[in-house]
Amino acid sequence: MNLPEQIQIREVGPRDGLQAEPEFMATENKIALINQLFQAGFKMMEATSFVNPKAIPQLRDAEQVVKGINRSAEITVSALVGNIRGVKRALMAGADEVQVVISASEEHNRRNVNMSIRQSLIQLEEVVPQAQQSNLVVRAAIATAFGCPFEGEIPLKKILGLINNFQQLGIKQVTLADTAGLGDPLLVTKIIQGVREGYPQIELALHFHDTRGLGLANALAGLQSGVTILEASLGGLGGCPFIPRATGNIATEDLVFMVERMGIQTGIDLTKILTTARWLENLVGHELPGKVLKAGISGGCFVD
Ligand code: COA
Ligand code: ZN
Repeated sequence: MNLPEQIQIREVGPRDGLQAEPEFMATENKIALINQLFQAGFKMMEATSFVNPKAIPQLRDAEQVVKGINRSAEITVSALVGNIRGVKRALMAGADEVQVVISASEEHNRRNVNMSIRQSLIQLEEVVPQAQQSNLVVRAAIATAFGCPFEGEIPLKKILGLINNFQQLGIKQVTLADTAGLGDPLLVTKIIQGVREGYPQIELALHFHDTRGLGLANALAGLQSGVTILEASLGGLGGCPFIPRATGNIATEDLVFMVERMGIQTGIDLTKILTTARWLENLVGHELPGKVLKAGISGGCFVD
């Protein structure tokens, strides 16, 4: 099996996870969550989003959250932005990176950011240079890249077209997101191969929701195809608010468990993140879908 020796896990729970929670999480708890995760070894994290607080009320405290993070030179604090105002807010708060998002599906893009894909692309021509001039790293995510609940299959051509637009704007890092959990390992392999052939210089990351239980299988397919940045959410928390019956990302601790057993290094302390995941589960007040959280690392009972 062709596998990397080491991967980076980009934690997205504080953004993708918390945005879908029914209750607002107190700012100090969000900051504690992020700081604990960085202490456990993460280098990259999507900490929040600077979007319309009416669309995503759970993350209306984005400024305070970013300002509360214990910073070190090795960590990258990223935030999702939806427009130029988001970029300005992220910059003022001290984010290192902004993530712009565009959907491969017209209907999902409209529901998510209230624009057509064309309008989103026009807006990126303003948003991306503004962020780059301010020395923010810009990452672009393609939502519904592996299928859309409203529009079905997404042709590879569409994904390549969007990446072409990103490349022209000077974006080097692209995340392919399975927002609705419709991908399968073969599709993941094919799409990555297609992107690699067309745009070998783009650094890919993968973002899988575990809606139909294929998240880890898809992650493994991604690793075998040579992608070494995977996104995950602690406990499997989350889901897109603009997709009916959406569920969370692959659980970070399940991903760490899987790859470390296979001899792939993550730099993440599994015991520490399990402790944080259990704390998070208590905090949100409902069961989280992560499996290792329930079963423990090695035995019949949870050990922390
Ligand atoms: N920060 C704070 N407020 C913002 C904002 C931002 N980045 N962008 C827009 N707003 C506010 C405006 O001030 C305005 O407020 P008002 O209703 O009090 O007048 C309102 O939002 C509408 O502004 P408008 O310019 O019409 O933007 P919009 O509503 O079309 O917003 C997005 C565009 C992308 C910011 C919005 O659709 C959004 O936040 N979507 C959520 C994206 C998201 O996080 N999805 C999650 C999964 S990827
Ligand atoms: Zn997501």
